[in-house]
Amino acid sequence: MATTQRIEAFAPASCANLNCGFDILGFALETPGDTVIIQKAQHKNVIIKKITGDAGKLPLNPDKNTASVAVKYLLKKLNIKCGIEITIHKNMPLESGLGSSAASSVAAIYALNNLLELGLSKMELIQYAMMGETVASGEAHADNIAPSMLGGFILIRSYTPLDIIQLPTPKDLYYTIVHPNISINTKEARSILRHNVALKDVITQTANLGGLISGLYLNDYALIGRSLNDVIIEPVRALLMPYFNEVKDVALNSGALGFGISGSGPSLFTLNKSKDSALVVAERMINVFNKYRIKCMSYSAKINTTGAVS
Ligand code: HSE
Repeated sequence: MATTQRIEAFAPASCANLNCGFDILGFALETPGDTVIIQKAQHKNVIIKKITGDAGKLPLNPDKNTASVAVKYLLKKLNIKCGIEITIHKNMPLESGLGSSAASSVAAIYALNNLLELGLSKMELIQYAMMGETVASGEAHADNIAPSMLGGFILIRSYTPLDIIQLPTPKDLYYTIVHPNISINTKEARSILRHNVALKDVITQTANLGGLISGLYLNDYALIGRSLNDVIIEPVRALLMPYFNEVKDVALNSGALGFGISGSGPSLFTLNKSKDSALVVAERMINVFNKYRIKCMSYSAKINTTGAVS
């Protein structure tokens, strides 16, 4: 009987941190996302065959690309000797704060699991996909990987051991993402953060984290909105983003439930109680950037609750 030689998988972009959950919260986007094709090869190596949509910016070196690093890690850990060729179709801006590197790793690992019929659950696959993040940001954080793999809102309760909690998604919740055409490197955006934080800020941040998670469980949109605050990371990273305060004011005055930086930026996100509201907020945020001749892309949709698919 012929065995499958090739599997294609899609993994969505994601919005990490959600203001009060730095490195521990994220949700998956309906669009954009990456498609990855994994093929068995005659040779014994893992190679990147082709990348499209990256304007030649991503490394073809398998030790430097997030998808191949994750694939190599899984093969090594499970002691599988198999040559693999990877084709990556990027469908989102790079260094955008939308979990672009994570989407490629997740799609690659999800496809590999299917191709080799490993039978691992999505939850089990996360630890392998996370390894790709070490190349992109210097640390194997899961706040983009886990939502991209599983869909929905995700809490990473612990990294050692990994303890991932799937949170509920209120049905009328829509996101808006506005991506201004500037790049922010995640490693750099992490290097500027303060490592010592005032106790009063920790109290505010954890209170908001509790409020946000309660709001998701209670379908309490107002509580979700007023909990979307960040007194620790945003004040530092906002300095990297032009016109941040003006865009924030416009978003919140246009009906967004809450506003923040998506991952390490420069994309900005809002949560909204209807699609109409999400679209209005997106348009007004874009108008601010356009006023300063900064071009934008935007995405407004329901939260993706499916995650990676083949
Ligand atoms: N939590 C990470 C950060 C996400 O904010 O640095 C990076 O995409």
